[in-house]
Amino acid sequence: MERRWGAGGFSRRLWGLLLWNALLQDVAQAAPAGASPKASPSVEQFWHISDLHMDPSYHITGNHTQVCASSKGVNASNPGIFGDFMCDSPYRLILSALQYMRDSGQRASFMIWTGDSPPHVPVKELSTKLVIDIIGNLTATIRSFFPDLQVFPALGNHDYWPQDQMPESSSEVYNAVADFWKPWLSDEAVSTLRKGGFYTQVFQPNTTQPLRIVSLNTVLYYSPNNMTWNMTDPANQFEWLESVLEAAKQNKEKVYIVGHVPVGYLPFVRNITAIRKHYNEQLIEIFRRHSSVIAGQFYGHTHRDSIMVLLDKNGKPVNSLFVVPAVTPVKARLQADSNNPGMRLYQYDPLSYSLLDLWQFYLNLTEANMKNESVWKLEYVMSKAYGIQDLKPESLYEIANQFRVPQSNLFRRYYNYYFVSYDDPSLFCDERCKTNQICAIQYLDLSSYTDCVGREGK
Ligand SMILES: *[C@@H]1O[C@H](CO)[C@@H](O)[C@H](O)[C@H]1NC(C)=O
Ligand SMILES: *[C@@H]1O[C@H](CO)[C@@H](O)[C@H](O)[C@H]1NC(C)=O
Ligand SMILES: *[C@@H]1O[C@H](CO)[C@@H](O)[C@H](O)[C@H]1NC(C)=O
Ligand SMILES: *[C@@H]1O[C@H](CO)[C@@H](O)[C@H](O)[C@H]1NC(C)=O
Ligand SMILES: *[C@@H]1O[C@H](CO)[C@@H](O)[C@H](O)[C@H]1NC(C)=O
Ligand SMILES: *[C@@H]1O[C@H](CO)[C@@H](O)[C@H](O)[C@H]1NC(C)=O
Ligand SMILES: *[C@@H]1O[C@H](CO)[C@@H](O)[C@H](O)[C@H]1NC(C)=O
Ligand SMILES: *[C@@H]1O[C@H](CO)[C@@H](O)[C@H](O)[C@H]1NC(C)=O
Ligand SMILES: *[C@@H]1O[C@H](CO)[C@@H](O)[C@H](O)[C@H]1NC(C)=O
Ligand SMILES: [Zn+2]
Ligand SMILES: [Zn+2]
Repeated sequence: MERRWGAGGFSRRLWGLLLWNALLQDVAQAAPAGASPKASPSVEQFWHISDLHMDPSYHITGNHTQVCASSKGVNASNPGIFGDFMCDSPYRLILSALQYMRDSGQRASFMIWTGDSPPHVPVKELSTKLVIDIIGNLTATIRSFFPDLQVFPALGNHDYWPQDQMPESSSEVYNAVADFWKPWLSDEAVSTLRKGGFYTQVFQPNTTQPLRIVSLNTVLYYSPNNMTWNMTDPANQFEWLESVLEAAKQNKEKVYIVGHVPVGYLPFVRNITAIRKHYNEQLIEIFRRHSSVIAGQFYGHTHRDSIMVLLDKNGKPVNSLFVVPAVTPVKARLQADSNNPGMRLYQYDPLSYSLLDLWQFYLNLTEANMKNESVWKLEYVMSKAYGIQDLKPESLYEIANQFRVPQSNLFRRYYNYYFVSYDDPSLFCDERCKTNQICAIQYLDLSSYTDCVGREGK
């Protein structure tokens, strides 16, 4: 949801254009045309979508200030049937994403959906009822495409009214989503969801080593949330999380952490965490202590494609974290950059649940609008794009080390994917911007992040 900051220089168009062409060639080599994930028996897959932000008001009309409420009176830039970079998602864009996922022929064991269904509009244009209606609509829509697939949702800061202000006790919204999501969840999960907007649930309970999903309500820790000011443990979620992770260890389970607002530092600014700093420190401490049972962490919220690696106190990489880019292409008026709509498929080892690879898909919004046809495509395969064996913490850590090389082509590629191949050659990342990105990937707590920024010196 943070969309206030630009991406750095506007003035290096030519340089940017050259890089751009080099990049396109690299990508073409990395992902052979027509390739699609081929899961062997020892590989299983799951989908991850986030930040759908449906704007029901979206419609094409001559007066571009009126195309969508989410442009907030600003002219839409080039509105087409699949949306506009000044607007949140038309329903049609969301349908096109789900259609592509369903018709891709990919076998997925489950889906994770990390929240933010309503549009970015002023608080007074929404209400508790409208927010609930939109979450209900998207829940029904997803179920209509995937009637037999188990979906593990997490609540986003926009999935509340007024936005961000999620309470630490039961509310109309928690109740409503508990009812909507009941078909996917156990009674116990539904019951904690009603109380605090979080839950845990075992996927396929009777396998030798079960997978446990832990869906956190990180909106309780989100900086703009006034309802949790001064609280040491809102909704007792920290205490609950510790006991869940402890029990998971006893039961020899592996855990995937799912949430909307990510832990760690925002990659596009200096020294700002997405959740409040003291909550971030607490969460990192818990994740470190229990890193041996956590096999992956999955977030949304920034609308950009990024990775993070959790290090233990001795600097050893222990967890891989992923932020999936948004389906919505929306950007703010003064912002240079945006993202094409994206979603992804992860591959994992069904015995250890360790992450093997990810396939990032995207819609070239400009092209789709030009052709009146939604041509979702493979953007990249992570192992091929970065030349790594798997998505283990050590592998991701090593990628970020390679990004440090001056003029690193690998980093340019990462920065292009960060915006989901958004077409603006002026998106150049200078040294300061690069430091922000790299330190945010590798250092999630205050002291190591501060050291990193100090060391890089820019
Ligand atoms: C476009 O819509 C805005 C907002 O309703 C209005 O103020 C403006 O006059 C309209 N422009 C034209 C050319 O009709
Ligand atoms: C929208 O575009 C029209 C036509 O170019 C222009 O007259 C109008 O001032 C613009 N409105 C805003 C709010 O930028
Ligand atoms: C969801 O909202 C869209 C757009 O307003 C509407 O066309 C569709 O019928 C709704 N679907 C459900 C299942 O409510
Ligand atoms: C798992 O096994 C238990 C005990 O054998 C059984 O009661 C339960 O129904 C099984 N659950 C599933 C989802 O198969
Ligand atoms: C939250 O608190 C801040 C600072 O007190 C205030 O400016 C803001 O209006 C509050 N927001 C809401 C939604 O209550
Ligand atoms: C939080 O605590 C500070 C210091 O005790 C106090 O000044 C402030 O009013 C408290 N804020 C809320 C919203 O309770
Ligand atoms: C997206 O489509 C536009 C219009 O066809 C094209 O100029 C641009 O290169 C495409 N972007 C990518 C990443 O393919
Ligand atoms: C695309 O659809 C729009 C609106 O339905 C229409 O005005 C336009 O002519 C169509 N363009 C093409 C290339 O089919
Ligand atoms: C980041 O902010 C913290 C306070 O929240 C401060 O102690 C630290 O020195 C800052 N680090 C940098 C690199 O600015
Ligand atoms: Zn969002
Ligand atoms: Zn958000």
